[in-house]
Amino acid sequence: MAEPHILVNKDGPILTIRINRPDKKNAITNEMYDALVGALTLATNDSHIIAVKLEGTGDCFTAGNDLADFLSMEEISMNASAPRFLKALASFPKILIAVVQGVAVGIGTTMLLHGDFVVATTDARFQLPFINLALVPEAASSLLLPARIGYLRAAELLLLGESFTAETALYLGLVNRVVDPTELEACSLGILKQLLGKDPSALFETKRLLKLQSIEVDGRMAEEFKAFGARLASPAFKTMAEAFFQSKRT
Ligand code: COA
Repeated sequence: MAEPHILVNKDGPILTIRINRPDKKNAITNEMYDALVGALTLATNDSHIIAVKLEGTGDCFTAGNDLADFLSMEEISMNASAPRFLKALASFPKILIAVVQGVAVGIGTTMLLHGDFVVATTDARFQLPFINLALVPEAASSLLLPARIGYLRAAELLLLGESFTAETALYLGLVNRVVDPTELEACSLGILKQLLGKDPSALFETKRLLKLQSIEVDGRMAEEFKAFGARLASPAFKTMAEAFFQSKRT
């Protein structure tokens, strides 16, 4: 039987969620978003879990939303799978550490804006390619990215849609640490071990207070998805997404 595309493993106070579709560069389907929501809900409701470690499989974090799923969607509502995942992520009350190896494209980069720690390998590559697909930003990244890295830098990443290195991500403040792939596990576990030495309630309360500044996130996501849905229905998006799959066939 094929392995699930989202693997969940509980090890004491840590829940590891692994995006596991390496043959498609861990591109995330609607079914996978639903499984991710399930895992985050499990972590929220289990009082023994302090932190979630979110990672990819193989040489890849995720190539973002499955483009075939996008092509089959005429519109997107806040109750659709991807928005539900992003809302669950943005309101996740426990600690979230994202571990990025290889490519983190689209939502693979924007979801990091909701994490509490991001550890990346030296070979990690980030990209916000929405503009190249005639799409617009999501995950409240149009709000959170300029707030995090400044308007001009955010505008460059979103208007040019070029990929950038882990070194640049560190410089911009999108990741906490950049390590050799061989040190990735030890580095993320080291951070988790430090966190587990703290009082859990104080950790969660500190996170809640830190996130108060993002109070407009829900509203911005709704606004973005309105625009995103309109773009998904545009001929320009369909042409560009079809060109991606065509390039894989030639
Ligand atoms: N949706 C669906 N399938 C995807 C995908 C995506 N987002 N990204 C990659 N895949 C599939 C490819 O179609 C290919 O499938 P195939 O082997 O059946 O042809 C497989 O994953 C491997 O991808 P490939 O492009 O050959 O790998 P690569 O190492 O050369 O490039 C990426 C990796 C991530 C740079 C490249 O795949 C890419 O740009 N993907 C699209 C990213 C994207 O636009 N995401 C949506 C943002 S809104």
